[in-house]
Amino acid sequence: MARLLARLVAMNDGWAAPLGEFNQRWAQALFRAVGPFKDLLHGTWLGHPLHAATTDLPIGLLLGSVILDLLAQPTAADIVLVASIATMILAAMSGLADYAETAGLARTRATLHSVLMTVTLLLVIVSAVMRAAGPADRTIPIALSIIAFVLVSAGAFVGGDVVYVLGNMVSRHAFRGPGTKWIHLDTGELSDLSDLPEGTPTKVRAGINDLVLVRSGTTIHAMHAVCAHAGGPMDKGKVVDGCLECPWHASRFDLRDGRLRRGPSVYDQPTYEIRSAEGGGYEARRRDPLGDEVPAAGDARAAS
Ligand code: FES
Repeated sequence: MARLLARLVAMNDGWAAPLGEFNQRWAQALFRAVGPFKDLLHGTWLGHPLHAATTDLPIGLLLGSVILDLLAQPTAADIVLVASIATMILAAMSGLADYAETAGLARTRATLHSVLMTVTLLLVIVSAVMRAAGPADRTIPIALSIIAFVLVSAGAFVGGDVVYVLGNMVSRHAFRGPGTKWIHLDTGELSDLSDLPEGTPTKVRAGINDLVLVRSGTTIHAMHAVCAHAGGPMDKGKVVDGCLECPWHASRFDLRDGRLRRGPSVYDQPTYEIRSAEGGGYEARRRDPLGDEVPAAGDARAAS
């Protein structure tokens, strides 16, 4: 069964890939004009993808409307159907914001997902318009709602693949535990962190992790070099307003504590404490991601 469904989904990649490329161009142009509104739709303010939090509503409401239709409760069914349309539009807007920053196979599958959801939305709108005319026979609008529910379920299945199989909008640090150990920092040729060029992201290594260091005066900030949003190389980013900006989609993370200041990421970036090691060199340890205090960053003079 799983293989059959996977093949059915993959069969659509041929047309969905170029359509996804085209859609992304106009979606990005659209959102460029409404920058902060886009962050609202991503869920940057919520620390959680808004699309994931809004998609259950229209599916549940549409199912409720179908059940009420089958129980011969036309007024209640119509009210719930209108509510499903309203929440479907909210889910579509939040999904479009995420789609604008999605690449590769995830974008291709998200295109199939969005086409299924758009057809669903059109069907329920037609169903609602027909109901509003007060027909004596409600067979067609009810049938349209049932077909729409089948389509929205298929769309939800594909959307689930985009997140759970392809990892889109999943934090790139989801499986990284809170650090408790100090780990040797491999700084390469650099023996003294106070020699780091001011405000220039510099990649170093701590165990299996790449970190990026930024010196601000006598303070050394350290964060993970892989962007939480989609894995962008933070060491290739730039420092803007006390934040490190990712080069791929321009998410900004506060240098002091990794807190998200601008999307499309909805996740904070792991930050690290730096200290001098007893036998020479430096050590790093991940900060508590749930710590409330803005931590004191490593001091280049104290650490050297
Ligand atoms: S990878 Fe998207 S903002 Fe960094």
